[in-house]
Amino acid sequence: MTRDLRLTIAAELTRARERTALLTGAVDSDDLVRQHSPLMSPLVWDLAHVGNQEELWLVRDVGGREPVREDIDHLYDAFQHARRDRPALPLLDPGEARRYVAQVREKALDVLDRVRLDDRPLVDQGFAFGMIVQHEQQHDETMLATHQLRAGDPVLPFAPTPPGSHRVRGEAMIPGGPFTMGTSTEPWALDNERPAHTIDVPAFLIDVAPVTNRDFSAFIDASGYERPEFWSERGWAHRLSAGLTAPMHWVGEGHCRQFGRIVPINPDEPVVHVGYFEAEAYAAWAGKRLPTEAEWEKAARFDPATERSRRFPWGDEPPGPQHANLGQRHLSPAPVGAYPAGASPLGVHQLIGDVWEWTSSGFSGYPGFSSFPYREYSEVFFGGDYRVLRGGSFGTDAAAVRGTFRNWDHPIRRQIFSGFRCARDLT
Ligand code: AVJ
Ligand code: FE
Repeated sequence: MTRDLRLTIAAELTRARERTALLTGAVDSDDLVRQHSPLMSPLVWDLAHVGNQEELWLVRDVGGREPVREDIDHLYDAFQHARRDRPALPLLDPGEARRYVAQVREKALDVLDRVRLDDRPLVDQGFAFGMIVQHEQQHDETMLATHQLRAGDPVLPFAPTPPGSHRVRGEAMIPGGPFTMGTSTEPWALDNERPAHTIDVPAFLIDVAPVTNRDFSAFIDASGYERPEFWSERGWAHRLSAGLTAPMHWVGEGHCRQFGRIVPINPDEPVVHVGYFEAEAYAAWAGKRLPTEAEWEKAARFDPATERSRRFPWGDEPPGPQHANLGQRHLSPAPVGAYPAGASPLGVHQLIGDVWEWTSSGFSGYPGFSSFPYREYSEVFFGGDYRVLRGGSFGTDAAAVRGTFRNWDHPIRRQIFSGFRCARDLT
């Protein structure tokens, strides 16, 4: 039983490291240490930071072993240096960073072989290892966003998405009544997803698919970016000061930039690289609104036949390639209707994968929240200037998303793989 768990953990650690190696191996050393955007760290920072977190949690805390490189902790503490300042730090160079993460991994795997997994909450069901797997996968998504901002020729392998279907359109009705939000049983769920709690969500309508490039272009063609009546006051001020006129990475003439390629915008794919304020303006123009976080989760997890909440829209099995566009298999969202096997019981599609979906909710703790294992993962962000995003994107790994998973970012951010779907009240 614990042997299976240890094998699963080792395989997940290896899978995450293969992704990290691909993203950091695709460019030369100059590109690894360069800052491609002040919004992002140099890739070599992400690489060593992933190793440093693994050292702190698995080697030192869980394993009780001696530090590998205590002297560099401060360089890779995300709270000590803002992203824009990281290139000026005396960081490990690419060769040193690679040797460091390999050394840490060797020790972490040795800890995994020897440590008891049943004597303290930190390691219960492999939690600390799961947290580190998710941490590396989260940074792999961040590194993919850095690749998207990088100038120069394409370096990442492309694979076409499955085809969409025009039959997936319109809205689904989500019935009112109590629903279980969050989880107390998912072994690798992070602190902010806990505990499970019952909330009453009144009936509402939600789009069966994310807003597409076709939909969003109609907003642009209707002068949506020029009409303050659709924007919040803060949103309009940002629209003006940032000079927004289209999603990030759109280059004009119906084309956008995808990881170094200029490609025609596919009208059937979910729009990506929009901020919260743009999503809000689109929804107002469409006569709708963004879903709350609770509405999103109910649409994704509620099974009306059993009145229970599922782990994923399609059931309790982990995501497979038939369910969702995850794991950087494709470097774009897939057209609407591409994943019929991933739909929820109420007929809502593509909630997991493709694009992170902005919700109208701020980021805060659920009733009964307690930070675990450290305040800096979630709690210090509660009540800040953030909106919750749900569902993961094509850049998110299956290990780092589930029906309860909560992401958050500043409302102006759009270098992330963010899109949205609309909701509205029953009238
Ligand atoms: C949950 C995606 C907002 O990337 O800032 C990574 C995850 N926390 N390292 C982030 C995280 C610490 C976090 N997000
Ligand atoms: Fe991190």
